[in-house]
Amino acid sequence: MKKLGKAFVFFFGALGGLLFGYDTGVISGAILFIKTDMMLSAFQQGVVVSSILMGAIIGAVLISSLSDKYGRKKMVLVSAFIFCFASLASAFAPNAALLIISRIILGTAVGGASALVPLYLSEMAPAKSRGALATLNQLLITVGILSAYIINMIFTHSVNGWRIMLGFAAAPAVILFLGTIFLPESPRWLIGKGRQEEAKKILRSLREESEVETEINEIQENNLKESGGYGELFHKWVRPALIIGIGLAVFQQIIGCNTVIYYAPTIFESIGLSKESAILSTVGIGALNVLVTIAALFIMDKINRRTLLTIGSAGMIFSLVMIWAMPKLSGFMPVLNYAPVFAAGLYIFFFAATWGPIMWIMIGEVFPMKVRGIGVGLSSVANWSANLAVALLFPSLLEKIGTPLFLIYALMAVFSIIFIKYKVFETRGRSLEEIEKTLYCKYNKKVSV
Ligand code: BGC
Repeated sequence: MKKLGKAFVFFFGALGGLLFGYDTGVISGAILFIKTDMMLSAFQQGVVVSSILMGAIIGAVLISSLSDKYGRKKMVLVSAFIFCFASLASAFAPNAALLIISRIILGTAVGGASALVPLYLSEMAPAKSRGALATLNQLLITVGILSAYIINMIFTHSVNGWRIMLGFAAAPAVILFLGTIFLPESPRWLIGKGRQEEAKKILRSLREESEVETEINEIQENNLKESGGYGELFHKWVRPALIIGIGLAVFQQIIGCNTVIYYAPTIFESIGLSKESAILSTVGIGALNVLVTIAALFIMDKINRRTLLTIGSAGMIFSLVMIWAMPKLSGFMPVLNYAPVFAAGLYIFFFAATWGPIMWIMIGEVFPMKVRGIGVGLSSVANWSANLAVALLFPSLLEKIGTPLFLIYALMAVFSIIFIKYKVFETRGRSLEEIEKTLYCKYNKKVSV
């Protein structure tokens, strides 16, 4: 492989993120047409929307644990195949039952990609730029969500528009499949399987010659530790990583990110904006999400992850309180009635610059090699489960308690700051092997730090 291949490797390595974003984002618009076309009850609509999340929970655990056995690349190929097949199946589904089944199958690929992409990117990247390269995953997720919003807008008035919206995802899936055929396997996984020579060749194409030997030695040294399985995830020295992985994954959802992303039009409509401007503002939120993620690429390897997460939580607390409080003050100053639009934008700004990318980056960093696949998989399962819980609960909670619900998210963000302070260790600028060594020395008590 030539040096030229770097951009190719990181682009295709992250492309699964685009499908993750598109397939989760597209349903918010498509459901408006599916429900009339298929005459769905409110409950059936809920199932159609959340079926992808259910599939993602299964896919994240299944596909990622298979990736420890069969390799990262093979499982990306399997996911790309499922993406393509299941998005076409959902586009052609003749009834609600088949639509739900195909969305669950599609979800397994989404869950698989959500675990495989951060895993692959963090294993391919050099320590000094791992933050930025792993942020590519989040960038493509946000581009996927934005593309879905735009495609939804374009095909709103077409016959069978929702089928086009759902089927559109097959195109990037084919590109992902073809691109992945040419991707190299992760050198860290290869060394784990005793395939040093292949690993060396791949690292040579991605690094300066002088860096290759040191990196290979570091990986090999780490590799001598006992082999892992689910049991090892709970070993004393791996437990802190598991707590970080699952904790970050759950907090990323219970601070309400998808509520703001998916329900922005509802929030905007409730303060008196027209349907058209509400939908347009969704595209605006999607675009802001992409732009801020691009900016995040540039700060990710310069500022500590813990600092960014704390700033992000504080900013989101402020924005959530504003969403709740401003309309109440509009009696005194009518212009404040529009402040929630600004507050939602501010929330997205803080999320996209911090928790959006960093959660996925860090779950790819904290686990030791032998259990990295299943560790990332389990964290991803936690993320999808929390996502599902929030998605199912949000509409009824909003109806019951109203906008103080945003204060509950703010409270969760307060807890997230405490969690970061006491449980999360810093990973920026350190090689995966250094991170693993510190865990082993600090918590195994066999070797002194
Ligand atoms: C989250 C998704 C969210 C997306 C929005 C991701 O990091 O995991 O749940 O929809 O960011 O940009």
